[in-house]
Amino acid sequence: VRIERTRDGLRAWLDGLPGGGGMRVLVPTMGALHRGHLALIARGRALAGPEGTLVVSIFVNPLQFDRAEDLAGYPRPEERDEALCREAGVDVLFLPPAGEMYASDHSVTVSERALSLGLCGAVRPGHFDGVCTVVLKLFLLTGCRVAVFGEKDFQQLAVVRRMVRDLDVPVEIDAFPTVREEDGLALSSRNQRLDAARRADAPRIRRALLEAARLSDPAEMLRLVRTRLGESPLLRVDYVEVVDAATLRPVEDLRGAALLAVAVFYGEVRLIDHIAVGPRRE
Ligand code: PAF
Repeated sequence: VRIERTRDGLRAWLDGLPGGGGMRVLVPTMGALHRGHLALIARGRALAGPEGTLVVSIFVNPLQFDRAEDLAGYPRPEERDEALCREAGVDVLFLPPAGEMYASDHSVTVSERALSLGLCGAVRPGHFDGVCTVVLKLFLLTGCRVAVFGEKDFQQLAVVRRMVRDLDVPVEIDAFPTVREEDGLALSSRNQRLDAARRADAPRIRRALLEAARLSDPAEMLRLVRTRLGESPLLRVDYVEVVDAATLRPVEDLRGAALLAVAVFYGEVRLIDHIAVGPRRE
């Protein structure tokens, strides 16, 4: 795997590929790669094909962190990530240091103003501006035709799709289903920051969602999830919501496709998960 740490280096390497390197696919990440990322990378490899170029970026984007301790505590196992990318058949790994991506007086950001208002956007001010800004920069730097995102961060996926639509960004967004541990916990780089007791407790998130998804009334779903999560002394609920799958606005009945979404804190560690609810698709 080729490693590039500067924007100029990445561009020069990509420009030097015969025929532009064919089908260019980007998997943007913040590193601390786990099986969920490896599934996105395998998907990216398949989309690029043997002749195409698979770019993986690892950048812990300061612009999308609203809490300094979350940014400081974010795991950065660089050598391990490099080895995993090598094994996964990545062509080029873009690993810019913090100072490389933003000029010290940078002053332009991208803001999405509908889908990012609720859920994580409401409790993490500026988060999705930070995501949109870095994602657009990564699209422009890599010149990718397709980019692969995980469905676990469904609000991020929706916001990025809206940005692509509204700004005519010539990149196709490919979504990949959430990968889970055997006990149901959604894979996240943040899971490794849970101590043993919290890690053992965390599968209750998925269990609560599965149990609530059998109900038909959003208010009852919210009550049940709050009750189940409240049974743990180790976590604090950040939000529980039932939202329309397209607008991400809260819904009071289940006439259309909807999502039951939660965010919880185990100490400093914030975890999110969701499940599709609403009319049965027979
Ligand atoms: O999902 C992530 O890891 C990040 O939000 C992303 C898309 C790499 C942007 O920094």
